[in-house]
Amino acid sequence: MNRNTVLSKCSTPLESSITDIDNRTVKMIKFHHPKRETGKKIDELYQEFRDKPLGSASIGQAHYAVLKDGTKVVTKVQRPLIADMMRKDFVLLKKLGRVINTISDTDDDSEQMIDLVSVIDELEKVTNEELDFRIEAENTRFFKENCIADEEKITCPSVIDELTTERIFTMTFVDGYSIAKKERLMDDGYDPEEIGAVIPDNYLHQVLDVGTFHADPHQGNLMVSHGKPVWIDFGMIGRITEADVNMLQALILSLIDRDLDTLVNTIMSIGATSPKTDRNKLLEDADMMFDKYMNVTNLQELDLSTLLEEVTSLADKHHISLPGKYTMLVRSIATIEGVIEQLCPELNLFQMITDKLMERVKKNLDVKQELISAGKDVLGVSKKVAKMPELAYDALNGMVKGRMKMNLELISYDEILNKVNETTRNVILALFACVLFIGSCVLSSTDLKPQTPDGQPLIAAVGMVFSIALAIYTVRRMSKKK
Ligand SMILES: Nc1ncnc2c1ncn2[C@@H]1O[C@H](COP(=O)(O)OP(=O)(O)O)[C@@H](O)[C@H]1O
Ligand SMILES: [Mg+2]
Repeated sequence: MNRNTVLSKCSTPLESSITDIDNRTVKMIKFHHPKRETGKKIDELYQEFRDKPLGSASIGQAHYAVLKDGTKVVTKVQRPLIADMMRKDFVLLKKLGRVINTISDTDDDSEQMIDLVSVIDELEKVTNEELDFRIEAENTRFFKENCIADEEKITCPSVIDELTTERIFTMTFVDGYSIAKKERLMDDGYDPEEIGAVIPDNYLHQVLDVGTFHADPHQGNLMVSHGKPVWIDFGMIGRITEADVNMLQALILSLIDRDLDTLVNTIMSIGATSPKTDRNKLLEDADMMFDKYMNVTNLQELDLSTLLEEVTSLADKHHISLPGKYTMLVRSIATIEGVIEQLCPELNLFQMITDKLMERVKKNLDVKQELISAGKDVLGVSKKVAKMPELAYDALNGMVKGRMKMNLELISYDEILNKVNETTRNVILALFACVLFIGSCVLSSTDLKPQTPDGQPLIAAVGMVFSIALAIYTVRRMSKKK
């Protein structure tokens, strides 16, 4: 390997040399710039840099390396073309968004109108953030400082600032393997259940206490090093507020209590209702959900993610759009539940979260009780202490109503894609109807046989009728699907 090949001399040498490379593979950083002899050499930055990537990251590759001081690190290198490709995708998406906005403008059901261009703008912002490794580095730093309560039990890498830029990210190396390798864990003499038990505990700490959680907690992003679980990959982080946690608490505790009113109020507070939302029908369906799921005597039988997904589809059915951060949390919970299931099937996240929430309620009550008994009713909630969910409902209700635009910013990518797909289908149908109509008009001026009794070519007449029917169908479909 030619270790003397040079990186550029720009302010961030490694980054600029890497981003200049036309490399679908980022194979040999060194080989791409043999003539740039003026900048920093790989040799000056690292004692060792392993070209063969550890794993192929979604927007680049992760390389094992050793710094001059002997620290073992991993440098994630971004594919230079990726940012460009995404930029082009967004140009296209925005064009499509403008077309769809124009179509939507003609619809009178303005209550539900979606400003797709601003949604796409928002998405672009999020994507740009993902393409900026400094943000992933910041997330990693935050996670290490706030979400790791006891490094002896579970930990995450530390950021190496000097080798972190927009396009490369360097962190300490985790000497281990994916938590998916259960057999290997056992061969190495560890108890998967013991290791696994730490994970949900820490995960719930992230969600309930810190309000910042790993949004993509799959097996590939959880490693085991010397018998200790280690989180990696903070490209996607979820954030929720104290009010959101109160909502989640209300939601889960209302499920256990079979408290229909609180459940429905909470769902309506979390999402944005539409004029089509019928509270009574929602109550009926929620009741049916209780019958289906909550007749168990043992919480162990319940999956947290199944329940939350059930709540999601309930909201969906009743035209309540849930904010993206909620959808993100549900997805994240489903993923971590899968991981726990693999490692320690005995553990139940629903039971664990319920216990934690009960503790939380008690603690909150204690704090408030103290304030009240000390004559400091600063929160003004003395009478509502036990009705925390409704309190949160009151507070959020005003905000939720009429903030369609805000909610849109939180709408998930899937929803947008569905919307785009749906509209694209409509546009294609409309175009097809037009083409068919024009074609039929052209044919009607010919003498093609067979003909209708009034001398029109039969095929033109059929085409015309069909195109008009298709046009009517498309218009109805568009106004219905808004
Ligand atoms: N600090 C680290 N120590 C050891 N291996 C790592 C480290 N960071 C990443 N890797 C390896 O590189 C792979 C990809 O990195 P990751 O951060 O998960 O990228 P992506 O965002 O594409 O999933 C991981 O699955 C893991 O095998
Ligand atoms: Mg990953």
